[in-house]
Amino acid sequence: MHKPHIPLEELEHKAEACRACPLYEGRTNLVFGVGDPHARVMIIGEAPGKNEDLQGEPFVGAAGKYLNELLGYAGLTRDKVYIANVLKCRPPGNRNPRPEEIEVCTPFLREQTRTIDPVFIVTLGNFSTRFILKTDQGITGLHGRVQQAGHFKVFPVFHPAAALYDRSKQDLMKEDFTKLGQLLQAASAHADSDVDTSTQD
Ligand code: URA
Repeated sequence: MHKPHIPLEELEHKAEACRACPLYEGRTNLVFGVGDPHARVMIIGEAPGKNEDLQGEPFVGAAGKYLNELLGYAGLTRDKVYIANVLKCRPPGNRNPRPEEIEVCTPFLREQTRTIDPVFIVTLGNFSTRFILKTDQGITGLHGRVQQAGHFKVFPVFHPAAALYDRSKQDLMKEDFTKLGQLLQAASAHADSDVDTSTQD
């Protein structure tokens, strides 16, 4: 039997009340997620940074501005996707998420993913890619190629902050997001042709 999906507002309230790791103590705001709850594309980053913590919204700083630009290469805009992170609270000094934080926080991400039920999940960088694909492989070997996780198509790309820092990744980012746009078009053409055949008799 399928577990019922938990509404996003209910999940957000649960995350607000979460005290499972000490990160809640240092946060200004929980950064739960933003965007279209019925999006075909869900974008998953790592953890809130300083600006995200202050505004309670993912990817609003420099990496967010760059992400918005990259979405454009795929024919997407921020309001057409749903954006979330592996961790919902900011790690101090933007350090990497710790395994025990990922373990206690990711049930929220898992439920968000089930509720939104996108066609594509775009994982940004190593932390979200490793969590979604349950792999130890790094992003350098995985980016730009569609993977499957359950019924989701997963498209790993470098983290935008990494590409801002290392300009040699920026052409690859552009290529990967352009490819994502082509994959989305192909997927919607396929979905349309499914509808056509089902209405033919
Ligand atoms: N980096 C992330 O991974 N997530 C954000 O929300 C902002 C920066």
